[in-house]
Amino acid sequence: MPGETLGLVGESGCGKSVTALSILGLVQRPGRIVGGKILFKGEDLVRMPVDELRDIRGRDIAMIFQDPLSSLNPVLKVGFQIDEAMQAHDKIPKDQIERRGVDLLKEVRVPDAARRANDYPHQFSGGMRQRAMIAMGLSNRPEILIADEPTTALDVTVQAQILELLRDLNEATGTSIMLITHNLGVVAGLCKRVIVMYAGEIVEQGPVEQIFESPQHPYTWSLLRSIPRIDADRRERLRSIEGLPPDLIQLPPGCKFSPRCPYRIERCFRDDPQLKEVAPSQEAACWVTMKRAYAEMGAATITDTRPGAASGVRPPKGVAAKVVDARTIDAAEGPVR
Ligand SMILES: Nc1ncnc2c1ncn2[C@@H]1O[C@H](COP(=O)(O)OP(=O)(O)OP(=O)(O)O)[C@@H](O)[C@H]1O
Ligand code: SF4
Ligand SMILES: [Mg+2]
Repeated sequence: MPGETLGLVGESGCGKSVTALSILGLVQRPGRIVGGKILFKGEDLVRMPVDELRDIRGRDIAMIFQDPLSSLNPVLKVGFQIDEAMQAHDKIPKDQIERRGVDLLKEVRVPDAARRANDYPHQFSGGMRQRAMIAMGLSNRPEILIADEPTTALDVTVQAQILELLRDLNEATGTSIMLITHNLGVVAGLCKRVIVMYAGEIVEQGPVEQIFESPQHPYTWSLLRSIPRIDADRRERLRSIEGLPPDLIQLPPGCKFSPRCPYRIERCFRDDPQLKEVAPSQEAACWVTMKRAYAEMGAATITDTRPGAASGVRPPKGVAAKVVDARTIDAAEGPVR
């Protein structure tokens, strides 16, 4: 929505970056978009001719990529790269480009911006490179800024500065921000609405406060329960989500979360649930939802979060999807993200 800050969350590998790249038509071969629509101001970006999409990309919808070091060209000065983004679109008058480039670096709080515009990316710190990427993303005053994990590689102080910067930009210019992250704390601090993804699909969406207060999809509920909280009872154990996300090429039938879900019922292995309203402005794709899990399956007191533990439902014969115990992997292959 115009002026909205939207968080897109989900485990590593659930398809957040691919979804964002699809919006800009940047999915790399052999990947391709096989269905659906991406509507921007009523027009479908999937069917739009390449030239027209190129005009929109970087001008109306800009993206801060997940890895700034590999997204900046190492042999070109940072200032030049920001100016180039503006030259590509003719939105900013030519005689204003250079000054705007330096102003943007100032705006994203790069110290001594006029001099640092002449530095190469390797002369910037990680946080400064991230800010240079944000400056580039903002250079054409886009209507939507997609920020793919803009703070993951940064220490918490710089992380806070970048988030504050994004908040200021949203408030000052009304730029809509889509923030991709697997940090729910970041979403709580910055976003108004959140979309939770699992295995390449939206499983829950709604206003941030409402979803944090009353998540209805067992995956969202599990994600929230796996975060350490400063106000939690000390004796309460953190509950990890057992198993791993499925291979996106070989998805299980029915609900994609069924191999890991403590609340699954038989139907979950057969039928794929679609998003439906579970509360005003909140949608979830689940046959059970947490309301029923609390009422019938003791969700409030559950301590065993293994697949099917709360409902007692085992996978039907032949569907025993590979469920890997996260603790086994932990021991064998080091920490799992
Ligand atoms: N819709 C899809 N269909 C098929 N494969 C997909 C789809 N989305 C993602 N993938 C595959 O999953 C991989 C991981 O996706 P992606 O990089 O988008 O994950 P991510 O959620 O951004 O993870 P991270 O948090 O680690 O950045 C991709 O490289 C791609 O191979
Ligand atoms: S209860 Fe069923 S539909 Fe809901 S998340 Fe669990 S497996 Fe999926
Ligand atoms: Mg990613």
